[in-house]
Amino acid sequence: MTYAVTGASGQLGRLVVERLKAKAPASEIAALARSPEKAADLGVPVRQADYTKPDTLEKALAGVDVLLLISSSEIGQRAPQHHNVLQAAKAAGVKRVVYTSLLHADTSPLSLAPEHAETEKELKGLGIPFTILRNGWYTENNTGFVKGAVAGGALIGAAGEGRISGATRADFADAAVVALADVSHAGKTYELAGDDAYTLADLAAEISRQTGKLIPYKNLSAADYAKALTGFGLPGSIAEALAGWDALVPKGVLFDDGKALSRLIGRPTTPLSTAVAAALA
Ligand SMILES: NC(=O)c1ccc[n+]([C@@H]2O[C@H](COP(=O)([O-])OP(=O)(O)OC[C@H]3O[C@@H](n4cnc5c(N)ncnc54)[C@H](OP(=O)(O)O)[C@@H]3O)[C@@H](O)[C@H]2O)c1
Repeated sequence: MTYAVTGASGQLGRLVVERLKAKAPASEIAALARSPEKAADLGVPVRQADYTKPDTLEKALAGVDVLLLISSSEIGQRAPQHHNVLQAAKAAGVKRVVYTSLLHADTSPLSLAPEHAETEKELKGLGIPFTILRNGWYTENNTGFVKGAVAGGALIGAAGEGRISGATRADFADAAVVALADVSHAGKTYELAGDDAYTLADLAAEISRQTGKLIPYKNLSAADYAKALTGFGLPGSIAEALAGWDALVPKGVLFDDGKALSRLIGRPTTPLSTAVAAALA
């Protein structure tokens, strides 16, 4: 049995490969990376695979039985890039595909959703058994702001009282490994999210508790939040995207209480306190 993991040089991909090594011999795991040198330390064979270069993809997928397609980070280019991977998988005779999608990809108003929905549709029509992992918000998306909040004396955002069912990349990586290793997940679509939802005020309270400093949450309009992020050095388009996603949080776009993730991985998802401690370390 040979497994392949795309995006193996990325943060999620690295965690998946590390965990998959506990389930399968390293020789049966192929790390697929656009820049193979970035995945050379993973201790498994690395194959070059660029989503924009179909010739690299078919070669990289030769002899692969089960593929994890980790969605590309190139927002706006993803559907055609994923198309290239899926067509190469079909041509190479891959027997099962696991895809990391987005929470509620079929109904989510997030601008990120249509690309994922398009890939899901193509995957379902491909004729290869598949599993769709609709990953919720990485808690790290939020805890990435912890140090800045401590330095600035407040956590800012535009998510109001909206609840975020975040889970860590490690939680999602464990789910991917379970789906890869067990054929019984074929044909299933999972909405994966953390067990306990938090608001940004909860995050600020947890930062305050762990640091012993009062770090309040300041809610801004999306426009003001985008302006503040630009002031911190983020490119305007990224600042606007982040602020726009935040502004949708009160509508429940990042909330899910189905607990499919903890059921899949057989343990509770990582608590916010643990993620904050990691961010402060
Ligand atoms: N659920 C969430 O909250 C959330 C948050 C952020 C991202 N995501 C999605 O989840 C994915 C994994 O997250 P992550 O944190 O691991 O992201 P990441 O660290 O940015 O990794 C992205 C991976 O995609 C690879 N990639 C990008 N363009 C490629 C191309 N043309 N050909 C081949 N590989 C390409 C990157 O390769 P290089 O190393 O060569 O750049 C990298 O390995 C992201 O790509 C994104 O789709 C989800």
